[in-house]
Amino acid sequence: MKDRLLRRLARELLGDDEVWSRIDVVGDIALIHRKFNYPIENLRLLANEMLKRMKGVKAVFAIEPGTEGKYRLRRLIHLAGENRTATIYKEHGCVYKVDVQKAFVVPRLSGEHLRIAELVQPWETVFNMFAGVGPFSILIAKRKGAKVYSVDVNPLAYELMVENVKLNGVEDKVIPILGDSADVSYWLRGSVDRVLMPLPELAPSYLDYALLSLRYPGWLHLYLHVLVRWGERPKLSALRVGRRLLESKCSSFEIRGVRLVRTVGPRIAQVVVDALLNKCEFKPRLRSAEGFGPLSHLLGTPWDW
Ligand SMILES: C[S@@+](CC[C@H](N)C(=O)[O-])C[C@H]1O[C@@H](n2cnc3c(N)ncnc32)[C@H](O)[C@@H]1O
Repeated sequence: MKDRLLRRLARELLGDDEVWSRIDVVGDIALIHRKFNYPIENLRLLANEMLKRMKGVKAVFAIEPGTEGKYRLRRLIHLAGENRTATIYKEHGCVYKVDVQKAFVVPRLSGEHLRIAELVQPWETVFNMFAGVGPFSILIAKRKGAKVYSVDVNPLAYELMVENVKLNGVEDKVIPILGDSADVSYWLRGSVDRVLMPLPELAPSYLDYALLSLRYPGWLHLYLHVLVRWGERPKLSALRVGRRLLESKCSSFEIRGVRLVRTVGPRIAQVVVDALLNKCEFKPRLRSAEGFGPLSHLLGTPWDW
């Protein structure tokens, strides 16, 4: 319904048959992912019309391509309506306070949040290495009652996650942690049943930390960006890349599923590989004492164990 309206508006106003597919609506804020050099005036025209025609939309922003800085924030340009970036987002019966400027929210991952939550068993301990404002962690706790260590390095995402944990009444199940998930993996070593790595840009280089935290056999959900070869289906690309990565660390594992999450560029796909790992060899690089940040004051550094 929403997609059909957006498609029609974009076609009527701009003669554009594609821009509608780059629009996300988070709560009452609409976000248009702007292609490099796409005329901002055209987007403003579309934004004003969206405000008139879409009852629930109160603000519209353009998102510039790419992310900036350590926290991978996106640059927004205000197009129409209220100039505010905080809103309430509802998904699968959970409520989230979000800020489209400060903490990453991906409504297109909604189906993935539910799929993963359904795989978790109530007795499991889960490590969410890149939790954002908490949509995977909170849904898992709410649906399955499992315990989740939910980590984010961005203080703004962490603060929202803490609020969201309370809002959804899962304080006894979700443990929000502000820090680098590499550091947290040392304290969790050998203790978790399932690891989520929902950040394709970092997942391959953080694989050793995920393997360190697992109790074997254990589950891994590895999100990757893969280049889809000519004539190859994205799922096959996922299998090829996922298998190669895991073979470099694990002598015994089973890939139980591969899924296309979304297409992120011409021939680039975001995929997820679900694997049951039985035996892995890993050598996480020890990080410097300063690298352990605020956690080292609470828990000591790995050299203190
Ligand atoms: C793609 S977002 C998470 C999206 C979220 N899981 C969802 O489903 O909406 C990635 C998050 O990882 C966080 N992040 C980046 N590097 C990190 C690190 N080294 N340790 C922990 N979190 C990190 C970012 O701050 C960001 O909030």
